[in-house]
Amino acid sequence: MSRLVVVSNRVATPTESKGSAGGLAVGVFGALKDTGGVWFGWSGEIVGEGTANAGPEIVQDGAVTFATVGLSRRDYDQYYRGFSNAMLWPVFHYRNDLARYDRQEYAGYRRVNAWLAQQLLPLLKPDDVIWVHDYHLIPFAEALRLAGVKNRIGFFLHIPFPAPQVLLNVPPHDELVKSLCCYDVVGFQTESDLVAFGDYIVRQAHGTVSRDGRTVDAYGRSLRAGVYRIGVFPDDIAAQAKRFETRKDVRELKASLKDRKLIMSVDRLDYSKGIAERFRAFERLLETAPELQGAVSLVQVAPPTRADVQSYQHIRQNLEYEAGRINGRFSGLDWTPIRYLNRRYDRWVLMSLFRASQVGFVTPLRDGMNLVAKEYVAAQDPDDPGVLVLSRFAGAAAELDAALIVNPHDILDMSEALQRALTMPLEERQDRHRKMLAALRRNDLGVWRDTFLVDLRAVRPGMP
Ligand code: ADP
Ligand code: F6P
Repeated sequence: MSRLVVVSNRVATPTESKGSAGGLAVGVFGALKDTGGVWFGWSGEIVGEGTANAGPEIVQDGAVTFATVGLSRRDYDQYYRGFSNAMLWPVFHYRNDLARYDRQEYAGYRRVNAWLAQQLLPLLKPDDVIWVHDYHLIPFAEALRLAGVKNRIGFFLHIPFPAPQVLLNVPPHDELVKSLCCYDVVGFQTESDLVAFGDYIVRQAHGTVSRDGRTVDAYGRSLRAGVYRIGVFPDDIAAQAKRFETRKDVRELKASLKDRKLIMSVDRLDYSKGIAERFRAFERLLETAPELQGAVSLVQVAPPTRADVQSYQHIRQNLEYEAGRINGRFSGLDWTPIRYLNRRYDRWVLMSLFRASQVGFVTPLRDGMNLVAKEYVAAQDPDDPGVLVLSRFAGAAAELDAALIVNPHDILDMSEALQRALTMPLEERQDRHRKMLAALRRNDLGVWRDTFLVDLRAVRPGMP
């Protein structure tokens, strides 16, 4: 079988990819581990203050070759901090109000994509299958094609694809979608992302899309599009969540709760995750059900991310204010309503904390999939499972419809769902959990990986 070459902005180091990395990294590593191959991308390092980047550093780990490059300060600022995270991320999450366009940053975004493609070239073999991930790398295939690469190249978008009217807010939207059409297969998380892409192709690009949305002809190219919902390996998560129950951090948390109920939330500290609305819903719960004061705690784990982008500094300040305000209002001498932790945890410790809690509170304002929702369900004890309260705007809501589905803009709706979750009878909890676990098993991480790669390997190699 042809070798798999994965390209993503971040590359998990060999140790991380085996144990503690998130869904994308676990999935990518799983794909590579089975077949062998290459994982190429940014090392996460900024090399010097100038404009010179650092070429690939190669580390072999079993059958997987990790090839990582360093970015200069200028490239990091323009490609990663600027166009990717201050323009594409907010618009693709329907936050045009937070988007900031700078033509030089866009030029930097394209320049870094072209440079990355040049760095990959010497590592490529003629029949490699190349799988590129996420919004940082939309122009990557186009750059490879310009360099004469004829391999099959697929792209998977981990975040939402916005409706055309929203995408128009990105000034070079037409160039970006044209670049996207240089891939042979383009994959999305949900049906509504695929529909939005098809709408853009028909209305803005004047291309054609087949009835099922899967065959796209635009900009003189023909490509395949599809929905590939990223998943988890639920049985691995359940086993590890159980195994880590006896870990010191988990025992200490349980002891400190003194039989109080626990609501768990885990997110990167991102404005798309709806954390401030969540805090306010919890506050409303304590107001409307005073008997819960002193009887339930919300643990919010939120490690900072993209901390040098201004909107992330604002959300961090706002959350510190909200957590402080709510805790000041309700805390007792031996009870703090919100425990707000800005740090990363070992993945399996998080799964054990999910298992120890009565409610998983996952309420993004917009999210491609949200793996935390799936991990929460997978980590539960089937005999005594916790309840998932899930935003309708998470991609995961399409599969996890046995969760308590809420609208994160409706604070009262969320607080009522919390109350219902905290008092739900065992039988109903088991029933909802059984349905959601079955959905996770039907579409696990292996299914995501294999269906995408089957489709990619089935296309005729791309034409430049
Ligand atoms: P996103 O990709 O936007 O960050 P997801 O929910 O899809 O959101 O994926 C996040 C992944 O990162 C999950 O696998 C989750 O377990 C992991 N994660 C989130 N917060 C932490 C943390 N504080 N420590 C360790 N892992 C985390
Ligand atoms: O799709 C979510 C995502 O943007 C991934 O591409 C990325 O690995 C993750 O979030 C973390 O973001 P960052 O790499 O900016 O820290």
